[in-house]
Amino acid sequence: MKDVIDCWNEKASQWRTLVGDKGDSNRIFNSDPVLWNFLGEITGKTILDAGCGTGYLSVQMSEKLATVIGVDVSEKMIKEAKKFGKEKNAQIDFRVDSCSKLSSVPSQSIDKIVCNYVLMDLPDLSGALQNFHRVLKPSGLAVCIFTHPCFTELSESEMYFDEIKKKDRWGRFTSDFIYFHRPLSTYWREFKRAGFQIENFDEPIAQDPFAPGFQDLWRKNYRKQAWSVAFRLIK
Ligand SMILES: C[S@@+](CC[C@H](N)C(=O)[O-])C[C@H]1O[C@@H](n2cnc3c(N)ncnc32)[C@H](O)[C@@H]1O
Repeated sequence: MKDVIDCWNEKASQWRTLVGDKGDSNRIFNSDPVLWNFLGEITGKTILDAGCGTGYLSVQMSEKLATVIGVDVSEKMIKEAKKFGKEKNAQIDFRVDSCSKLSSVPSQSIDKIVCNYVLMDLPDLSGALQNFHRVLKPSGLAVCIFTHPCFTELSESEMYFDEIKKKDRWGRFTSDFIYFHRPLSTYWREFKRAGFQIENFDEPIAQDPFAPGFQDLWRKNYRKQAWSVAFRLIK
């Protein structure tokens, strides 16, 4: 776990630049529209942004008048998130905590959880899902979006059906990201094992590739592959 925390601490300030105030292109054009659709009404609700990173979603949810708690295992991510929240005058409770423990979050205290591009980064997936289930109120909702595991680059010796700890360089980052490849069926099984009902599923893709800001790179790859999967889970 220490290597995972070190990895994210090291990347926090660059992450803030990459994701910016509103998310990167993949988030803005592909997955965020699905996320907001799956999330539904949030005004007046208590939302947990699990693995909030530098907090772009936390701020947007707070602007929609939700009460937002943002947790991240990386102290530096939380520091960036607090700075960003302050810049935006948002009242968000950002805390250092692990999704796999959620020690700072009481049971049955949360209406909705957003977990955006985090599950594939967790060494302990089942611990996280069990705790998501624990902290949600009865009939609570979790929206989980993560990198599509069917398109992970695998070396000759790596098998899709294995769980594999991987390292990858991405974008302009100068050091590797650590993540955990798992087959899609593992996620499905773990959602069920934690007690969730899988209510909806999607493979987000931009609806309008000609929208202003949709970059050439994205247009070239448009519909070549799915970049992420989105699950709507009910307690
Ligand atoms: C790919 S980033 C996504 C951040 C944010 N949700 C976003 O969409 O910009 C993954 C985040 O998960 C956090 N993370 C990794 N392992 C975690 C854990 N066990 N508990 C909480 N956060 C974790 C990292 O520190 C990082 O901020």
